[in-house]
Amino acid sequence: MIYFDNAATTWPKPPEVLEAMNRCVREIGANPGRAGHKMAVMANEMVDSTRKKLAAMFNIEPKNYGRIIFALNATEALNLAIKGLVKSGDHVVTSSMEHNSVARPLNRLEKEGVQVTRVKCDGEGNLDPQDVRGAIRPNTRLIAVIHASNVTGTVMPLEEIGKAAGEAGAVFLVDAAQSAGVLDIDVKKMNIGLLAFPGHKGLLGPTGTGGLYIGEGIVLEPLKEGGTGSRSELPGMPETLPDRYEAGTLNTVGIAGLGAGIDYIMKEGMEKIRRYELELTGRFIEGASRIPGLKIYGPKRAGVRAPVVSFLIEGRDSSEIGGILDRNYGVACRAGLHCAPDAHRTLGTFGLKLVRFSFSCFNTAEEVDRALGALDEIVHKNITLPEGQGGCGC
Ligand code: ALA
Repeated sequence: MIYFDNAATTWPKPPEVLEAMNRCVREIGANPGRAGHKMAVMANEMVDSTRKKLAAMFNIEPKNYGRIIFALNATEALNLAIKGLVKSGDHVVTSSMEHNSVARPLNRLEKEGVQVTRVKCDGEGNLDPQDVRGAIRPNTRLIAVIHASNVTGTVMPLEEIGKAAGEAGAVFLVDAAQSAGVLDIDVKKMNIGLLAFPGHKGLLGPTGTGGLYIGEGIVLEPLKEGGTGSRSELPGMPETLPDRYEAGTLNTVGIAGLGAGIDYIMKEGMEKIRRYELELTGRFIEGASRIPGLKIYGPKRAGVRAPVVSFLIEGRDSSEIGGILDRNYGVACRAGLHCAPDAHRTLGTFGLKLVRFSFSCFNTAEEVDRALGALDEIVHKNITLPEGQGGCGC
């Protein structure tokens, strides 16, 4: 199996991640923060050590590690950020390259009296920060932008947008679904007030992990209410963080794995990993440019981008290409709209749909060459799926 679907979730995970999860189940099986016994304290220390690693990675003040809230995934974190902050009458600026995890909450809030401006990106998915500035209104409460597109890998100009948000007194929310653990994120330099990230993609942790950093001075309405192991006498959620936003038992096993994933990245070096992944991306783009009829969307160079490339083969159905790659060549990729219909509208591929390859540090140049060989054969031999077999796309 050649796994090129790392933008959905990375696979495989480093062995250290599996070991940390195994050890957590065997040795730290208690509920963190719910009792004072040794095992519960150990579990709490492990959870906090993962928060501290995340704080270091995103340049969050060490004293603010408790402002990192664990969630199931980036989507849950984004829902908390958006629905917890924005009220009817507020204005939100966002981009036309957003994933549904930002677009759908905003679409719903729009029906409830929130004003939303979707700044149009260019045909490669680039967002002009001047356009963001121009969209700001006196009642702009939030600017919500994806860091790197999950369709094209295009990177958004966070520093300039953060500056504009700061000058306007708006909160800057960044969706780091494709960038956490891959691209540099500095909440101070970028003036990020809310940072939503998955644990199971670039950070190499297991599924069921992710989180939200809530900057100092930002107060959100909780998305969930329930037990926190603290201030149980109160009728509502306590004011203190992270408890205010972490109702119910945490995914300690996943958080242990996430901590080990971050350790792996720190040990190997994020820049070294990124350079390697972008080498694979560049190799694919270069090879693909020699395949007749194969058209790449988004940036055409490895440069500053996430290791995600989407393409189509002219005259062919992208879902069918995804199905052929899987069934005939053992290449796992994602074809379709990638939960980002607005991004596809921006690229002009909403009706066409695209095939997406996304690379991780565990892929090899040889795998890229084999996949290129498969695509070349599909084109030259006009390989199709047998009658009745559907493609794979969504
Ligand atoms: N958002 C993830 C993707 O793009 C799941 O595949």
